Amino acid sequence: MQPRKIIIDTDPGQDDAVAILLALASPDEIDLLGITCVAGNVPLALTARNARMICELAGRPDIAVFAGCDRPLGRALVTAEHVHGKTGLDGPTLPEPQMPLQPQHAVDFIIDTVRANPPGTITLCPLGPLTNIATALARAPDIAARLQEIVLMGGAYFEVGNITPAAEFNIYVDPQAAKAVFAAGVPLVVMPLDVTHKALVTAERNAAFRNLGTPVGIAVAQMTEFFERYDREKYGSLGAPLHDPCVTAYLLAPHLFSGRHVNVEIETMSELTMGMTVADWWRVTDRPANAMFMGQIDAQGFFDLLTQRLARL
Ligand code: BDR
Ligand code: CA
Repeated sequence: MQPRKIIIDTDPGQDDAVAILLALASPDEIDLLGITCVAGNVPLALTARNARMICELAGRPDIAVFAGCDRPLGRALVTAEHVHGKTGLDGPTLPEPQMPLQPQHAVDFIIDTVRANPPGTITLCPLGPLTNIATALARAPDIAARLQEIVLMGGAYFEVGNITPAAEFNIYVDPQAAKAVFAAGVPLVVMPLDVTHKALVTAERNAAFRNLGTPVGIAVAQMTEFFERYDREKYGSLGAPLHDPCVTAYLLAPHLFSGRHVNVEIETMSELTMGMTVADWWRVTDRPANAMFMGQIDAQGFFDLLTQRLARL
């Protein structure tokens, strides 16, 4: 089978970094056409820097990295240095990237790539706020029908919120963008906190990364060690939740995940619940299903896959 053509849209972030590394470690299944960066965990200049540092860590300076939108559609940018550190990628000491940032805007790259490929062959993998994706869909509505799928990390139902009591970070940062993406009619797979809070890096799993003994394995161990402190303190959890790698793992091993095909709407009016993902998990409305909203993960299967693949880099 041909590898699946994807674009990763991202705001690295340590967990974004691991998601990118997992994709780069899986060329038989994933053809990574480019990485588009967005403002989120940290401002755009840093996410565009961090994405290139990760490509270089993986020995892939040939990957095309694009900078996109530097702020949400209708709100001021909210960042998450309190989770990811000042650079967004605190933990390992990595060299400043040498590879260039592409001159084209990320949104133009997304539009051109979807139009240049046969319908149904491109999958978008957003790992941050949905600003670039919504902007591309608004500027070129024809691309919606040409996409194979959007597989994203964002939202929550049972876990409710992490950045506010009601909202998950990626959706909260740009709720207007999220609303547009969830209404676009594109097949959607959603990895909410309900899944990602079960994908925890325990001490044993972290040791498995470190014991790979490679620059990638050691850097991943250092990254997850850095950002686990936040979730340990807040939730008392065992370690860092690997939110974004759930997206790339789904492309490789969808059987590790299960959920429900339900209606998901985004709250954009109420300041109190801004960015809430109102998932009709119990199917109590007749609103049409628009997303495969995941709820469960085989966490050990996920970490086994991740560790085996990282060993290839
Ligand atoms: C999401 O927000 C970011 O902090 C992480 O990278 C992930 O994409 C989790 O809420
Ligand atoms: Ca992210």
